[in-house]
Amino acid sequence: MTIGLTKLHPTFVAEASAIDLRGVRDTQTLEQIRNAMTEYGVLVFRDQQFSNSEQIAFAQRLDGVLHAKTSSAVLTKNRFGNEALTDISNVGANGQILELNDRRRMNGISNRLWHTDASFESPAGRYSMLLGRNVPPVRADTQFADMRAAYEALDAQTQRVIDGLHVYHSIVYSRHTMGFDFSDEEKAKLPGATHPLVRVIAGSERRSLYLASHAAQIIEWQVPEGRLLLKDLIEHATQPQFVFSHIWKPNDLVIWDNRTTMHRGRPFDDKTYKREMTRVTTLDLPLQAVVA
Ligand code: OGA
Ligand code: MN
Repeated sequence: MTIGLTKLHPTFVAEASAIDLRGVRDTQTLEQIRNAMTEYGVLVFRDQQFSNSEQIAFAQRLDGVLHAKTSSAVLTKNRFGNEALTDISNVGANGQILELNDRRRMNGISNRLWHTDASFESPAGRYSMLLGRNVPPVRADTQFADMRAAYEALDAQTQRVIDGLHVYHSIVYSRHTMGFDFSDEEKAKLPGATHPLVRVIAGSERRSLYLASHAAQIIEWQVPEGRLLLKDLIEHATQPQFVFSHIWKPNDLVIWDNRTTMHRGRPFDDKTYKREMTRVTTLDLPLQAVVA
């Protein structure tokens, strides 16, 4: 079937016409979604009624292998019994809002920094698919930044300077900057990873900035100079013209390409309102022929 796409921002993001993704299995429709991801970077699908296992199965059909070495996995056992289904919520196993100093909360709150999922892994995250299961009655948006438009808006001199650099990404680092530290045992499970700062995304042949709160060091530079460059680039890439805010409705599924976008959660009154989302992230591996 043909999916209609309505652009939601001048440079990226589209909303898909009505479709039940549980039933999407044919290669032609899956390929259409992949192509739309390459073009738009972020896709919004409304009214998705996925069970947990259906959400996982759809992610596998669309993009193959799932990321399971998350930072939450080193802290607590996942309440859904599957580390590939990340619990993006402020709710504990007992169904109650987490205590203020709960370690899962302290870790998850750093999702409010600009980041890309699983950049601290190798292979890193490719697509993330976040489903709004219990959306609070107040605004609790997720924002996205277009890292291809941001790269293309840099002057030629800066582009020349940064092309070819490499970045070490570590979630131990990004959490430390927020005053949250993992234990030595937990740190050993989160060693970090190195990736190019500028990536050419197959399919579009456009260049994209690849950085995030996890970006700790430019490999080729002294640490302070590298951090200053990273801060400047994040500031540049998050100017209003590159940013889109998604306002959640129940059962929205938002899919984003972590290679071409950054994202962050916006603050809301998480001591009063529950917000429960589930996320599945795929790994940036060559895509094998998936289910026909
Ligand atoms: C995520 C994330 C932000 C939010 O799920 O990866 O960063 O708004 N979420 O919950
Ligand atoms: Mn995230």
